[in-house]
Amino acid sequence: MSNAMSSLQTNDLDAFWMPFTANRSFKQAPRLFVEASGMYYTTADGRRVMDGTSGLWCVNAGHCRPEIVEAIRKQAGELDFAGTFQMGHPKAFECASRLVNIAPPGFDHVFFGNSGSEAVDSALKIALGYHRARGNGGKTRLIGRERGYHGSNVGGTAVGGIGANRKMFGPLLAGVDHLRHTHDHDRNAFSRGQPVHGADLADDLERLITLHDASTIAAVIVEPVACSVGVYVPPQGYLQRLAAICAKHDILLIFDEVITAFGRLGAPFAADYFGVTPDIITSAKGLTNGAVPMGAVFVRGEIYDAFMQGPESAIELFHGYTYSGHPLACAAAIATMDVLQAEGLLTRASELASYWEERVHSLVGLPHVLDIRNIGLIGAIEFEPIADAPGRRAHARFLEAFRRGILVRATGDVIALAPPLIISKDEIDHLIGTLGEVLQSVAD
Ligand SMILES: Cc1ncc(COP(=O)(O)O)c(C=O)c1O
Repeated sequence: MSNAMSSLQTNDLDAFWMPFTANRSFKQAPRLFVEASGMYYTTADGRRVMDGTSGLWCVNAGHCRPEIVEAIRKQAGELDFAGTFQMGHPKAFECASRLVNIAPPGFDHVFFGNSGSEAVDSALKIALGYHRARGNGGKTRLIGRERGYHGSNVGGTAVGGIGANRKMFGPLLAGVDHLRHTHDHDRNAFSRGQPVHGADLADDLERLITLHDASTIAAVIVEPVACSVGVYVPPQGYLQRLAAICAKHDILLIFDEVITAFGRLGAPFAADYFGVTPDIITSAKGLTNGAVPMGAVFVRGEIYDAFMQGPESAIELFHGYTYSGHPLACAAAIATMDVLQAEGLLTRASELASYWEERVHSLVGLPHVLDIRNIGLIGAIEFEPIADAPGRRAHARFLEAFRRGILVRATGDVIALAPPLIISKDEIDHLIGTLGEVLQSVAD
C-alpha cells in the first residue's frame, strides 16, 4: 500500500464533498489515484491504469511531463503571486502572446480565468458588454443548445442544456433560450466522423430569432463537438450554417472549446478543424495540460476594440478574478505550448484519427451497443439504457474497465474516450481491446 493511501483513515473520506459524484457509494469503495506518468495512473493499491480520458479531457500531452512540472516548480520559487488588476507580471503577457500565435487568425486578445466555467461566464459577459459598448444594449439574450455543457457556474448552467444539471437550481438566468440538439440516432447512428444528416438543425436559430427578434439576442454558445454529455459530433455543414445565421443578425457566435482546443481533433482548435470562425472561443483543460487550473477566452480584435473607448484612464471591462493570469498557471501554459508544439501534438490526432476510428467502430455488435461515434481522438459508445435505470449500464462498464486497468468516462449511457494525444497505436489497441472484453463480460 502506498504512503498516500496508508495515511488515510476511513473517516477521512467524509469531509470532501465530491463534485458530480455519487458520494455515498464512492466512499464505500473509493477509487484513488496517487501517481501518474505519461499514459498511466497508479492507484492507491499500486495498480497501473491506462488513462483513456486524459484525466478529465485535459492531460493532452500525457501525465507529469517533466518540462511542465519543472516550469511550475521554478515559477513557484520565483514569483508565487502577482495580481493583474492595475498591476501585472511578464509571464501573463508572454502567455497571452504565445496563445494568440496558435489561435485561429484574428483572435488576437486573451482574457484569463481559472477554469472552463469561468471562461464561459467571462465570454457571456464579454458578449453582453460588447453589444452595449456599441450602443446595442438591448441585445441581452443568450442562446445555448439542448444537451450542451458549459460548466457549472450560473451563466454556464443557464445556457447549458442538461436537465439534471439545471433542475435543482430554479430559473438561473433570465432571457436564455436553447437550440434543439443535433443528435439524430435514427438517421445518423454509427456515423464515422461528422454525420451526414442535420445541417438544417441550425435553422432552429431562425425560429428563435423569429420568436425573440435578433435585436434582443447577444450571443449563441455551442460546443463545436458536444463532448461532456455523450459526444455529439456536429452534422456536416451545421456549424457553417449556424455561423452564417449569427453573422446575418449581428449575433456573436461563441465556440466553447474547453475540450476541443489544443489538438483534440487534430488541429489546434475546432474552429480550425471545421473551418468556421466564431467571434469568441473559450478554452481551459489542455491549456495547462491539466497541471494548474486555468481558463482562457479568445476574442477577435473588433470585440476587444469595442471596449477600448472613453478616457484612457478608465477601466474598460469590470470583470476579472484574483487569479486571472496567475503566475503558476501562465508558466504551466507556456511550458504546455512548448511541449505541444515541439512534439507536433496540436495536429497528431489527425494522423491517428483513421486508425482510432477503425478501432472504436470495431466494437459494433457487442452486447447492448446502440451507437458508436468518433471524431479526432474522441470516441463514444452508447448503450441501450436499462429500463428505469438510465446510466446504470455505462456505469457498470466504467467500473469493470477500471478493474481491468483502463480509465474510461461514463456519462449517461455513454462511455466516452479521449486518450492523451501521445497515445501509440499499440496503446490504442490495448485500450479498445480491453474495452471490448469489458463489453463482452458485463452481464446486464
Ligand atoms: C465544453 C465545456 N465547457 C466548460 C466546461 C467547464 O470546465 P471546468 O470544469 O474547468 O469549469 C467543460 C468541462 O468539462 C466543458 O466540457
